[in-house]
Amino acid sequence: MSYNLLKGKKGIIFGALDEKSIAWITAIRCHEEGASIVLTNAPVAMRMGAINKLAEQINAPVIPCDVTSDDDMNNLIMKSMEHFGGKFDFILHSVGMSLNMRKGKSYTELNYGFTQKTFDISSVSLHRLLATTWKHNALNEWSSIVALTYIAAQRVFPGYSEMADAKALLESIARSFGYHYALKNKVRVNTVSQSPTRTTAGTGVKGFEGFIRYAEKMSPLGNATAADCANYITTLFSDLTKYVTMQNLYHDGGFSSTGVSNQVIDQMEIDLPK
Ligand SMILES: NC(=O)c1ccc[n+]([C@@H]2O[C@H](COP(=O)([O-])OP(=O)(O)OC[C@H]3O[C@@H](n4cnc5c(N)ncnc54)[C@H](O)[C@@H]3O)[C@@H](O)[C@H]2O)c1
Repeated sequence: MSYNLLKGKKGIIFGALDEKSIAWITAIRCHEEGASIVLTNAPVAMRMGAINKLAEQINAPVIPCDVTSDDDMNNLIMKSMEHFGGKFDFILHSVGMSLNMRKGKSYTELNYGFTQKTFDISSVSLHRLLATTWKHNALNEWSSIVALTYIAAQRVFPGYSEMADAKALLESIARSFGYHYALKNKVRVNTVSQSPTRTTAGTGVKGFEGFIRYAEKMSPLGNATAADCANYITTLFSDLTKYVTMQNLYHDGGFSSTGVSNQVIDQMEIDLPK
């Protein structure tokens, strides 16, 4: 169902890799709500070709951008402004990658070259993006920026490794830049802390299946799906949430406020000695 929440709004969506991507599902949802969209992803991800299918479906151009490149980011923002005929209204940063996880390096034996790259892709890229839109005066008043994060920024989830540190940095950048952007022209910046979700990035986390089942049992509402995450992000891009900024917003079925659930206690009691 469409409520026309984003009628007349224009925005960029980073990170649609395939149909499971949170960004992919959000792009479709924003389109349904009346938004015009520019899609972007790393050139290497785009070579896989799936994004063109989405582009056709929502009638959006695709502009490549490796988020670690200043030149790519400049090009993306300038080309998007050309496409939209001026400033735009929202951005979804749905980008994350851990080099150490990918290379099988444990948290206690990180390769710091990889770590720098992980932070550049997953966290500093939000600063680069915001600074580039700032430089080009690309955002309308009351624009909304959302970046996706995970609760490992606040609590220890061992399998999440260096991505926990990357997400803590991402959330801090959202707060810090959100302050400056609010004063400049009422642009708001938030992070959404999503439940574990079966995507390419998600399932790359060690022990993901155990992890997602645990989260399901610990969340009174159950894990939030990617489709529900897309709904929530859409409200944050809309004018119904104008005074929400510099927040880390949990979209997790209550997981973050739950110490333990009856379901987890029941599970723990299964193996009790008689
Ligand atoms: N899946 C989960 O369990 C979960 C939970 C909470 C938060 N998140 C976050 O949601 C976001 C989206 O991930 P997803 O789960 O939809 O997985 P996904 O794998 O579909 O998306 C990750 C995207 O990052 C892009 N990317 C990687 N390196 C890049 C670069 N250098 N330049 C540009 N783009 C690059 C990939 O191409 C991909 O499109 C990530 O920030 C992730 O950490 C995911």
